[in-house]
Amino acid sequence: MVEPSGAARVKELSESAIRATAAEPRVADVLFALVRALRPALVVETGSFLGHTTYMLGLAVKLNGLGRVVSCDVVEEYVREARLNCARSFAVDIRWCRGIELPELRQADLVFIDSGYADRKEEVLSAKPGAVLLVHDTARSYDANVEPLDDWVMSMGGICLPTERGLGLLIRR
Ligand SMILES: C[S@@+](CC[C@H](N)C(=O)[O-])C[C@H]1O[C@@H](n2cnc3c(N)ncnc32)[C@H](O)[C@@H]1O
Repeated sequence: MVEPSGAARVKELSESAIRATAAEPRVADVLFALVRALRPALVVETGSFLGHTTYMLGLAVKLNGLGRVVSCDVVEEYVREARLNCARSFAVDIRWCRGIELPELRQADLVFIDSGYADRKEEVLSAKPGAVLLVHDTARSYDANVEPLDDWVMSMGGICLPTERGLGLLIRR
């Protein structure tokens, strides 16, 4: 079978597929509130998809009047679409790469980890000491080869909030 091109991949996404992939609205609300409350200078997101949460992070940074957001995705067409969706969203830079390849991951004050499940532990471990980390999908893994991350997040001193798919919250030590 021939893989659909990036543009075709976005066009073929149904509303329900988009809803299933984008973070739950309550998770976007938590991200927004934390960025407003903590006023981080640098926010990193791994896994922008179509830019729903990227937009919320950018909006919070704009309302703070300081800071910037760097996000990324490994699917080029998602990056293009997310850039369009965040075009009015100010200090947002969306790159086509793996989260682990972002130099800013090591410098960020707040990181939303929502990339490929297999990369998430490495992303957490790459963050700087003191960074506030939000790890999505702690209750459910969407990679059959990787266990859900809730126990691991808690073993690192974090907590897992009971959103639909689970949201881990921890401070990198
Ligand atoms: C759950 S979706 C992100 C949803 C998005 N944060 C939102 O709430 O709208 C995961 C995304 O991560 C991307 N992805 C997979 N592996 C990745 C990696 N290693 N680094 C960055 N993005 C990755 C996928 O292409 C997919 O678009």
